[in-house]
Amino acid sequence: MNTKSPETRLDLRKALGNFGTGVTIVSTLSASGEPTGMTANSFSSVSLDPPIVLWSLLNTSPSLQAFDACGRFVINVLALDQLPLSKRFATSMPNKFEGVAHQPGLAGLPVIEDCASVFQCKTVQRLEVGDHILFLGEIEAYHHHTDRDTLLYYRGQYAQGSRLEPSPT
Ligand SMILES: Cc1cc2nc3c(=O)[nH]c(=O)nc-3n(C[C@H](O)[C@H](O)[C@H](O)COP(=O)(O)O)c2cc1C
Repeated sequence: MNTKSPETRLDLRKALGNFGTGVTIVSTLSASGEPTGMTANSFSSVSLDPPIVLWSLLNTSPSLQAFDACGRFVINVLALDQLPLSKRFATSMPNKFEGVAHQPGLAGLPVIEDCASVFQCKTVQRLEVGDHILFLGEIEAYHHHTDRDTLLYYRGQYAQGSRLEPSPT
């Protein structure tokens, strides 16, 4: 399929947007040791044994160098009230972590406070796929808060979910 025309690209994005996702900030340390990161909804779980997750990054992204140099990343799964953080980390700007509550995790990588879930990962594979770089990482540590409702992204907009079934006891 030829996705060169702007109309086709927009239409494909609309089709893909029917698949609702969560929203994450993927964080790492730059080569100079500064916390950095970006908003990503390409996150997905791949394997439970060993525990492997993936996400993908546009190959022209200013963040690419940091993720390559560090060889580790943290998936911070955002809670509903962290929508402003998602918008902040989806903007190209220096010092994205300034004023953002975070703690040093494994290897000193920034772990954002009060996320719904956090997965601290070591990159185990890096693949060039089309215009993106696919990172696969093994989870080395994680924590979660089941009482924190998660922020969703659906049809190109932020959203919140509601249960269609009662919570399991
Ligand atoms: C909800 C949402 C999800 C996004 N998911 C991705 C993604 O999975 N991969 C990607 O490369 N960019 C994604 N972006 C765009 C980046 O967050 C944005 O380009 C950001 O500026 C990249 O940071 P950088 O410019 O500092 O590299 C997403 C943006 C939003 C709002």
